[in-house]
Amino acid sequence: MTKVERQARIFYFSGTGNAAHMAQCVAGTMQEAGVTAATVNIAGLDRRALAAPEPDVLLGFISPTHGFNFPPVMLSFLLAFPRTLHRNRVFLMNTRAGMKLGRVFLPGLSGAALLLAAVILMAKGYRIAGMRPIDMPSNWLSLHPSLRPKAVVAITRRCEAVARRFATRLISGGTDFRALLDLPQDLLIAPVSVLYFLAGRFVFAKSFYASTACNNCGACKAHCPVKAIVTVRNRPFWTFSCESCMRCMNECPARAIETGHGYVAGLIFVVSSTLARSDPRVLVRSDPPV
Ligand SMILES: Cc1cc2nc3c(=O)[nH]c(=O)nc-3n(C[C@H](O)[C@H](O)[C@H](O)COP(=O)(O)O)c2cc1C
Repeated sequence: MTKVERQARIFYFSGTGNAAHMAQCVAGTMQEAGVTAATVNIAGLDRRALAAPEPDVLLGFISPTHGFNFPPVMLSFLLAFPRTLHRNRVFLMNTRAGMKLGRVFLPGLSGAALLLAAVILMAKGYRIAGMRPIDMPSNWLSLHPSLRPKAVVAITRRCEAVARRFATRLISGGTDFRALLDLPQDLLIAPVSVLYFLAGRFVFAKSFYASTACNNCGACKAHCPVKAIVTVRNRPFWTFSCESCMRCMNECPARAIETGHGYVAGLIFVVSSTLARSDPRVLVRSDPPV
């Protein structure tokens, strides 16, 4: 029988607030049940100060999904996280791109996010007690227009209920592995998460720019959770360490930050046509059969 923890520590990373909100929601539910639950934002946390968890502490890790994986900032945090000496239980939650089409709630895609994080933590001796994707309002605005406020509220309320049930289950000593129902599709798109990790994320990072509405107020730089924005000739400039988390765009008071769709489309076109030209077999394949 699982011994129920009386303490919980929930580590989270959040770009635009979804993962932070879920961390608060889970912690709040646990506190109402008498568990001492604390949330810890990993952005800017001194990792060298992290100590191995005491026995009987439930640990949680909550992060957005970026490119069908946890973002590098969360992955490197998990890799740096101390091993357990007490086989502590842990849970994982990834917020995804939830949408609403009429009355239908559409889910996002996890890919390797929860699986890779679970493997890292198991290798450090932790016991996985729960894995939960949660479809909060999508913030991937470089790919689609923003959601209507009504849809955002409906999606958020639904997720809050899911997060509360998940938290209640865990602090009663239970487990929740419903994430594994997505396993076939997650494994299928896992190769894309590798491509995103190796190349895609750098393309997105470099698609941000400040329009002429930018007055160089520095809010983007100050709010960036990974300090990836620098000033070059009085203009913000996004370095390769940008996580494309969208925080800068959300915090800009002048609404001056944009993402270059044309740049991304152009880059894909140039790369794909260069690859096609450099492979003579592509031409042979289109020859009529003899
Ligand atoms: C660059 C980027 C990549 C994303 N990739 C995915 C993805 O692969 N799958 C998914 O379901 N959602 C994806 N999303 C959507 C976010 O994971 C989702 O909106 C999340 O709830 C945002 O959490 P946050 O507000 O805490 O940053 C992506 C968003 C961004 C900005």
